[in-house]
Amino acid sequence: MVIKSLKLKNYRNYELLDLTFDPKTNILYGDNAQGKTNILEALYLSGTTKSHRGTKDRDLVRFGCDEAHLETVVVKRGMEFQIDMHLKKNSPKGIAINKIPIRKASELFGIIHFVFFSPEDLNIIKEGPSGRRRFIDLELSQLDKVYLSNLSNYNRVINQRNSLLKDIYRQDHLVETLDIWDMQLVEYGTKVMEGRKKFVEEVNEIIAGIHDKLTGGREKISLTYETSIGNMTLEQALKKNRERDLRLKSTSVGPHRDDLCFMAGDLDIRKFGSQGQQRTAALSLKLSEIELVRSLIRDTPILLLDDVLSELDKHRQNYLLDSIHDIQTVITCTGLDEFVNHRFSINKIFHVKNGHVAKEN
Ligand SMILES: Nc1ncnc2c1ncn2[C@@H]1O[C@H](COP(=O)(O)OP(=O)(O)O)[C@@H](O)[C@H]1O
Ligand SMILES: [Mg+2]
Repeated sequence: MVIKSLKLKNYRNYELLDLTFDPKTNILYGDNAQGKTNILEALYLSGTTKSHRGTKDRDLVRFGCDEAHLETVVVKRGMEFQIDMHLKKNSPKGIAINKIPIRKASELFGIIHFVFFSPEDLNIIKEGPSGRRRFIDLELSQLDKVYLSNLSNYNRVINQRNSLLKDIYRQDHLVETLDIWDMQLVEYGTKVMEGRKKFVEEVNEIIAGIHDKLTGGREKISLTYETSIGNMTLEQALKKNRERDLRLKSTSVGPHRDDLCFMAGDLDIRKFGSQGQQRTAALSLKLSEIELVRSLIRDTPILLLDDVLSELDKHRQNYLLDSIHDIQTVITCTGLDEFVNHRFSINKIFHVKNGHVAKEN
C-alpha cells in the first residue's frame, strides 16, 4: 500500500498544503517547530482517526479557524481510496471514503495501515507499563475491529465502575449494583486480555530473530504478557479484590493494570537492563511490529519515522534502513547530512519551513 497524496486545509500550522509522495523513501527536513511532525500526524490521523500525540480534534484545527480538512489518497492493490476528513472545533469529525460518508470511525480501519515510530518509542521499555499497554492497544486496534470494540467497551465499563465505587462510599446500598458492572467487566476484559496475549505471542515469534541480528547473537530476548490476576480468572480476581476496591474507590485488577515483560535470558530488561539494552529491545519491538503487520495484512504498512534516526547509532540506523527498503516511508529530520549515508537512497526530499513545504529534487 502506498500513500499517493495528502492535502491539508487549516490543519495545525498549514493553511494549505498539497503533497505528492514517492512510493519509496520520502524525507521531510527542517528546523524545529516548522510543521514536520504535523504532516506525519495528519497522515496517521487519516488511517486511525486519531492523532498519535493524543491531541483533541479542536486543537488540530488551525488557530483562528473553525474547521480543518484533510484529504489523503492511498493506492492498494491497484485500487485508489480517497479519505476525506473534516475536523471541527465543536462537533465530531466527519469522514468519507471515496466521497461516501461513514457513520462509525472504525469503518476506516483496515484501509490504510501506519506504523508510527517516534523517539518516545525508544523509551517504551524503560518507562512505565501504561506506554506498553498503549503500544499494544494502538496496534491491535488498527488490526482488529473486534478488539477495538471490546477495548472501548472495557474502558467505558471501568470508568462507570470506578465512579460507582466512589458513590458507594456515600450511599452504601448501591453496592448491590456492582455485580452488574462486574459481569460486563469480565466479559470485555477477558477478551481484551486474550487479544493482547495472542498479539504478544505473535510478536514473540518474530522478535527473537530480529534481536539476534541486532545484537550479533549476544542476547536472546523473550516477551511475556503479565496479567494483574495471576492464575485466577478475571471474575475470581474481581471478587477477591472487591473489599480493597471499595476501600480504594478504584478497580485494582484487570487489563488496565497489565504489562508487557521483556526478558534477556534471565534478566528483566525493564528493571535491570542498561539504557543501551532497553533501546535495542525497543527497536527490535518496533521492527517486529512492522513484520507482524506485514504478514497479517498481507501488504506493506506505511512507516512514519519521526526524528528517530538521529537517536540511533550507525549500526542500528543501517539495520533499520535495511529492514524497510521495500516499504513506503516518510522520515522527518532536522538536517539532511545528519544521517544520510551513501548507501541509502532517498526518492523525494521536502524542505519544511513555517507551514510551507518545498520539494527539493
Ligand atoms: N492548531 C494549530 N494552529 C496553528 N499552528 C499550530 C497548531 N498546533 C500546532 N501549531 C504549530 O505547529 C508547529 C509545530 O509543528 P511540528 O510539526 O510539531 O514541528 P516539527 O517541525 O518540529 O516537527 C509549532 O510552530 C506550533 O505553534
Ligand atoms: Mg517534530
